[in-house]
Amino acid sequence: MTTTTIPPKTVRIGIISGSTRVVRVGPQIAAFVRSLIEKDLKTSPVEGLQIEFEDIDVGSLNLPLFDEPIIPSHTDIPDGYTHEHTRTWSRRISALDAFVFVTSQHNWGVPAGLKNAIDYLYKEWKGKPYVVVSYGGHGGGHAAKALEVILGGGLKMRGVDGGAVNLSFPSCDVLHKSIRGDDLRLLPSAEAAAEETWSDRTEDIVQLWRKMAVLLTTPVEEKQKPVA
Ligand SMILES: Cc1cc2nc3c(=O)[nH]c(=O)nc-3n(C[C@H](O)[C@H](O)[C@H](O)COP(=O)(O)O)c2cc1C
Repeated sequence: MTTTTIPPKTVRIGIISGSTRVVRVGPQIAAFVRSLIEKDLKTSPVEGLQIEFEDIDVGSLNLPLFDEPIIPSHTDIPDGYTHEHTRTWSRRISALDAFVFVTSQHNWGVPAGLKNAIDYLYKEWKGKPYVVVSYGGHGGGHAAKALEVILGGGLKMRGVDGGAVNLSFPSCDVLHKSIRGDDLRLLPSAEAAAEETWSDRTEDIVQLWRKMAVLLTTPVEEKQKPVA
């Protein structure tokens, strides 16, 4: 008797760093979050899934302020778009299955560059799972809440209960380093950095990832319900 092995389904996760500041720590924090997820996957793989990651640094996209004459939700993708930069962005997000949004907070809101990048598209986001990791002096929780309204409400993406982790800079020194875009020394030794800074939050990030992983393995109709 021959046994057939079902190959794992490939699921592609976008790790989106939302900062567009010329000096920025967002990509470092995104890499830190990714490293924790990758480490968790080594000991707790998601059954039936081959997980791949793509880093997206909004600050490197060089998207202009939204300049399409169409409304994305009413447009065929990607041909309905007027500009090549929109088509390129559309193809990139279409190819991904779920997202970890890593964002700072600007005056208690979502950084404008991230909101701009999100608003360029609609169908490319719709229905896909997401979680949020925010950071700031007090954790960037206002930005995370605003982002959850945009993603879960406006774009009808699929969130999870308690779908955000808010990382507070542990000291004024780290805050000032972040403002200057200095190396926060989160990588390559994520564990060492966690000892110094967010050791009490790494498990929260792993749990956040695991909640999203449940959505990736749940049939579509079940995905509509928030995961507790
Ligand atoms: C326009 C602007 C507004 C900011 N507003 C806040 C804020 O509301 N709360 C906060 O904790 N930090 C705030 N910050 C500080 C950021 O948390 C800090 O600069 C952080 O490094 C930004 O992330 P980035 O380096 O990835 O851009 C603000 C920074 C800028 C540039």
